[in-house]
Amino acid sequence: MSASRATAFDFDAALTDKVRIINATLHQLLAEQREVPEQLRTALDYTLSGPGKRIRSALVLWCCELVAGREDAGARIAAAAIEMVHTYSLVHDDLPAMDDDDLRRGRPTCHKAFDEATAILTGDGLLTLAFEILADRIDDPVLAVRLIGELARAAGPAGMVAGQIADLKAENTVGTVAMLEYIHTNKTAKMFRCAARMGALCGGAQAGPLETLGQYGLKIGLGFQIADDILDVSASSEQLGKTAGKDVQAAKCTYPAVVGIESARELERRLAREAVDLLDPFGAGAEILRRLAVMLLDRNR
Ligand code: IPE
Ligand code: IPE
Ligand code: MG
Ligand code: MG
Ligand code: MG
Repeated sequence: MSASRATAFDFDAALTDKVRIINATLHQLLAEQREVPEQLRTALDYTLSGPGKRIRSALVLWCCELVAGREDAGARIAAAAIEMVHTYSLVHDDLPAMDDDDLRRGRPTCHKAFDEATAILTGDGLLTLAFEILADRIDDPVLAVRLIGELARAAGPAGMVAGQIADLKAENTVGTVAMLEYIHTNKTAKMFRCAARMGALCGGAQAGPLETLGQYGLKIGLGFQIADDILDVSASSEQLGKTAGKDVQAAKCTYPAVVGIESARELERRLAREAVDLLDPFGAGAEILRRLAVMLLDRNR
């Protein structure tokens, strides 16, 4: 069955298909790294093989498919690269100096399974490997440089790192909506925008669709982090695969804490509607992205 036919009827099956591709690509890329010392390989393997939802990397593949009619080897590399950077961000996010979490993707966090130094270095390894694979395995050098620039900007000190430091600084303060928007846009939404743009670039998108898909990514990314905040107070650790209730414990600046859970849900729904509206010019081919925006509202992990 073609990907687009599958998505029209069964979103979960379409996502499962992408998760399989992404996991296989990650596994293969790590296996090909011959000179990684054994202890580090074990930690990298442990971390990358955890059951992440792979939403950002699936978004890369779907945006490439939308633009080009199919995904390809380059999009798979781009998907693996953003998944590596995202996974590094989780390993560091969980460190004692940051959110101090023991559970991630249903397993002990990297620093619990190994030790703190290994977790720091595993994160460093994932972050740098992402750029190595983009440099080495994207055939078109112009595309490679663009993808590297996109990912560096989204993950770097004016992107996810900016959001993470603002998130930590905002603990135990009286949060404002402006602070929340800044934190959530930077720590999470920019990586979603990046995923959409990387996929579109792999598909050869022109400036217009590239920009529109990026805006779609930014909106679902902001909604995704709002949902993450809501789940922290409404779901169980078993469901989430990470410790529930941590945000209240750490007095984090979250949407439920600042605007209340009902307003947070309303904002999440509005962002999903706006994201779906942005897809109008893409017609029926964008159905999977519409389904993704809606599915993220109802997610329970
Ligand atoms: C967790 O991201 C961190 C946030 C930005 C909310 P995910 O919820 O995508 O985590 P995994 O990759 O599925 O574990
Ligand atoms: C993390 O936000 C965002 C990252 C960039 C890693 P959270 O701290 O809320 O993510 P979880 O809840 O630990 O997954
Ligand atoms: Mg955090
Ligand atoms: Mg955290
Ligand atoms: Mg969270």
